[in-house]
Amino acid sequence: MPRVCVDKVVEDLYILRVDDDETRYFEALWSIPEGITYNSYVLLTSEGAVVFDAWKHTYADLYVEALRRVADLRDVRYIVTHHTEPDHSGSLPKLLEVTGNVPTVLGHPIAKQLISAFYGVEPRFRAVKDLEEIVVGGKKLRFIYIPWLHWPDTIATYIADYGVLLTCDAFGGFGLPKTLYDDDEAVVEWYKPFVRKYVVDVVGHYREYIVKNIEKIRSLNIDVKIVAPAHGLVWRRNPKEVIDLYYDIGSAKPSEGKVLVVYSSMYGIQEKSMSIVVEGLRARGFKTVIHRFTDREHASLGDVLADAIDAEAIVIGISTYDAAPFALVELMIKLLVEKVNAEKPVLIINTFGWSKLSEDTTKNLFSSSRFRGVDIVSVRGAPQRSDVERIKQGVEKLVNSIRK
Ligand SMILES: Cc1cc2nc3c(=O)[nH]c(=O)nc-3n(C[C@H](O)[C@H](O)[C@H](O)COP(=O)(O)O)c2cc1C
Ligand SMILES: [Fe+2]
Ligand SMILES: [Fe+2]
Repeated sequence: MPRVCVDKVVEDLYILRVDDDETRYFEALWSIPEGITYNSYVLLTSEGAVVFDAWKHTYADLYVEALRRVADLRDVRYIVTHHTEPDHSGSLPKLLEVTGNVPTVLGHPIAKQLISAFYGVEPRFRAVKDLEEIVVGGKKLRFIYIPWLHWPDTIATYIADYGVLLTCDAFGGFGLPKTLYDDDEAVVEWYKPFVRKYVVDVVGHYREYIVKNIEKIRSLNIDVKIVAPAHGLVWRRNPKEVIDLYYDIGSAKPSEGKVLVVYSSMYGIQEKSMSIVVEGLRARGFKTVIHRFTDREHASLGDVLADAIDAEAIVIGISTYDAAPFALVELMIKLLVEKVNAEKPVLIINTFGWSKLSEDTTKNLFSSSRFRGVDIVSVRGAPQRSDVERIKQGVEKLVNSIRK
């Protein structure tokens, strides 16, 4: 049974959180042994309850049970769909069923189409405009479009009375924090790497919109006392911390001295070239973070991307396999280009047996990306003395490119 938490965030606003420790691959792609939470919120007013988002369909029955703990289902007047991805809207059909289709769903115009396309239901629906305000039972709700965080349909709600900004995916993270709020510094520090991983893996493709939307929110001059996302911690001690963290990730801000090293090694031959790279970088004071694809371990793609976004530089070791780049490294590069795509220097090491990959094949992996290739070093099998020199020169070029 997953853990369910129901708590009062502030006065008449409640959180309903479920801890999903069953999903192994979020979006069927990202390995998340750390789990993920779905947070729904309920605002009680004198004119009925307003529900903000829900949970994944797997937890629809549990969701209704949790909602009953804070509101009479007959009192639900509005359901705000901030974002129609099924991790939040999956329980919507059930919610509509148990509320007799009485509530009006509020959302971006695109949400209406998606609800109908995904679930074949046509609830009462009212599209809200960017920056539109409505008053329910004396509580003012202001809707703010935050497109591409993480779909085109995404909106946030600002509850002015409490200074609460409900942001759905934005400012969320993977992981099952043991607390609901950011009150405990140790929990926050534990949680932050899962935020970084979540942002890059899920929203990375649209990361420029993180920066744009944060700037938009800042320009509204609203007093944000609490950031309440639909995944992970609620930020009430220091909401600025998660906004700044998102801004840094959105702008791919590097951590000083961090270099990501990721490679394949089928039989350990390329391992030798990579250890020359790692030694060279460490000798110059860099901190290398290493991910491998070998016969003993497969790097988690989501973790590799999380370490790429704040690296100062990246080194990729590709084994040649059937006259092509090793498939898992190729996939990893495709995802790096899709999700990280930042102006960071990249050094490629390419090991082969009988015919090396053309420079074009290797360069094409990065075609139309923003990464800056500094060198491609092809090595036949284990590195010979001349190869060692070329690898060291590659490292030198990478370091110069960082420090430029
Ligand atoms: C299944 C398999 C397929 C390979 N295909 C090629 C190939 O098409 N062209 C080539 O030059 N080398 C090929 N090789 C040789 C490797 O690229 C070469 O031995 C390399 O040094 C392997 O390093 P690693 O064991 O660290 O991955 C292949 C090796 C294996 C095991
Ligand atoms: Fe999403
Ligand atoms: Fe989500």
